[in-house]
Amino acid sequence: MAACSSSSGKSSPVTIGADDSRIADAEQARQVAGSATARHALVAAPMSLELGPRTVQTWGYDSIVPGTALRLTEGDTLEVALRNDLPEETTIHWHGLALRNDMDGVHDLTQPAIAAGDSFTYRFVAADPGTYWFHPHMGLQLDRGLYAPLVIMERNDPGGYDVDEVLVLDDWLDGIGTTPEQTFEGLTSMGSMGSMGGMDHGGMGGMGDMSSMGGSGGMSMFQSAALGGDAGDVAYPLHLINGRPQSDRFTIIVPSGGRARLRIINAGSDTAYRVALGGHTMTVTHTDGFPVEPVETDTLIIGMGERYDVLVTPRSGAWPLVASAEGKDAIVSAVVRTSDASQTTAPNASTRPAELEGRMLSYAQLRATDAVRLDGRPPDVEHRISLQGSMMPYQWSLDGATIADHPPLLVEHGQRVRLTFTNDSAMWHPVHLHGHTFRLGADATGPRKDTFNLLPGQTVSVDFEADNPGQWMLHCHNTYHLEQGMAAVIAYKD
Ligand code: C2O
Ligand code: CU
Repeated sequence: MAACSSSSGKSSPVTIGADDSRIADAEQARQVAGSATARHALVAAPMSLELGPRTVQTWGYDSIVPGTALRLTEGDTLEVALRNDLPEETTIHWHGLALRNDMDGVHDLTQPAIAAGDSFTYRFVAADPGTYWFHPHMGLQLDRGLYAPLVIMERNDPGGYDVDEVLVLDDWLDGIGTTPEQTFEGLTSMGSMGSMGGMDHGGMGGMGDMSSMGGSGGMSMFQSAALGGDAGDVAYPLHLINGRPQSDRFTIIVPSGGRARLRIINAGSDTAYRVALGGHTMTVTHTDGFPVEPVETDTLIIGMGERYDVLVTPRSGAWPLVASAEGKDAIVSAVVRTSDASQTTAPNASTRPAELEGRMLSYAQLRATDAVRLDGRPPDVEHRISLQGSMMPYQWSLDGATIADHPPLLVEHGQRVRLTFTNDSAMWHPVHLHGHTFRLGADATGPRKDTFNLLPGQTVSVDFEADNPGQWMLHCHNTYHLEQGMAAVIAYKD
C-alpha cells in the first residue's frame, strides 16, 4: 500500500502519532504483575512447501505454513524478534489485538517498513485472551504463506474440552497459478480494458496472466446468495487447512467420548468459507477471540480475518470438517477422528456433508457474554463510511477515496465511537478495525468483534471505546481490495 504519505496523522501535529508517550502509558496500564515474557525468534523467508503431490515455492514464517502457532497466557508479554530474509520489505500485524500502537505493524503509519535483510523486535503485552493471528501488512504478501496463529490462553481457563486445535483456512495460488502480483495486475488490467468480449483467457502476454481471474464482463463469476452477490474476484487453484490441501487432509484426534475446541481462522485473501462438521452440530463459543453465549449451529460462514471457536463432540468414527469456498465450488477439509476409530477410517473426500446446507449461523444469534459486554452508552461521535467499488474498472474505496486521499477519521481518547458502514457496492467486504474490539450492532448484547462481513446494500453500525491512543487502520480484509486502497485511518486527536 502506498499508505498514509500525507493524510496519516503521523506527521500531523493534531493527532497522536505512534511515537507519542501516551502509547507507552496505555501499555503500562496493561501490565500484569508476575506475568511472563514469551519469546520467539521468527524468520520470514522464501521456502518450498509440499502441497499434496506438488512442491511449490512461496514465502513463509519459520519455513512452515502456517507459521509456528504462538501460545501465551493473557497478560504475558510477547517478544518476537523478526528477521526479514524476504527479498523485499515487510512488517507484522497482530490481527485483532488491542496492543500498543507502535507495535501494530503498519508501515509508514506505526513503524517504518523492515528492509530486506533487516530485523525488528516486536514487544507488547497481550492483554485479551482469545484466538488471533499475525501476517504482514505489506502489499500482497498475505496471499503467500506468511501467516500464523496467535493463541492467548485465559489465565483461569474453565476448560470443558479435551483437545484444543487451531484450523487455519487459506485460498492458495502461489507457485501454482499466478503470483499474487500477477493476479493483482490481471485484475487491474482487466478492469481497465472495459470489456472482456472476445478476449482469450489463456495467455494475456504482457497484460498479466488472467487464469486466476474470477471476473468477466464487469461482474464476478462467483455468486453467493449467502453473501448477497459477488463472492470473490480470484479463482484459486487450491484451498488449504493448516497448509494441507484436500488430497492430504489434516487430522485431529479426539479422545473417545471427548470434546474438541476448534479455533478456526480465515487467513484467505479473497474467499469466505462455509464450515461444517459432517454428521454433527457445532457449538460456537467465541468470535474474534471474545466469548459469546454458546449457540449451536450446523454451519457458519467465516470471512477473511474472522475467527470462530467452536466445540464439537464427535461420535465414534472419522468425520469431515469441511470448509467450502463460498460461491467458488471448491472444498477443503480436515478429518476429525475419535481415538477408538481405526487409523485407516477416513470420510470420503468428495462428499459435501448435508450440514453445509443446514442451519446457518447469523450475527443476530451472537450475544456477548456478560463479562465482555460493551454497555449501551450512546456514542459521542459517529463516522459514516460508504464502501464503494467495482470489478470493472477494478476500484475499491471507502467513500470514493483510497487510503492516500481519505481524511483521517478523528476520535478522542475516552469517547464512545460509532462507525456506521453502508455497502454501496455489489460485493461483500470483511471490514476490519485495528487496535480495538468493537461491538457489532447498536444493541448492548451485540458480539465483540474486530472483523465482520458487510453484504451489498447493508448498513451496520459498530461501537467501540476509544481507549487505545494512536493511528489505526480501518480496512477491507480482502487482500486485493486493501492493495487497491480500500482503507482509512482512525486517528486519536491530540
Ligand atoms: Cu489482518 Cu490490517 O489486518
Ligand atoms: Cu473489499
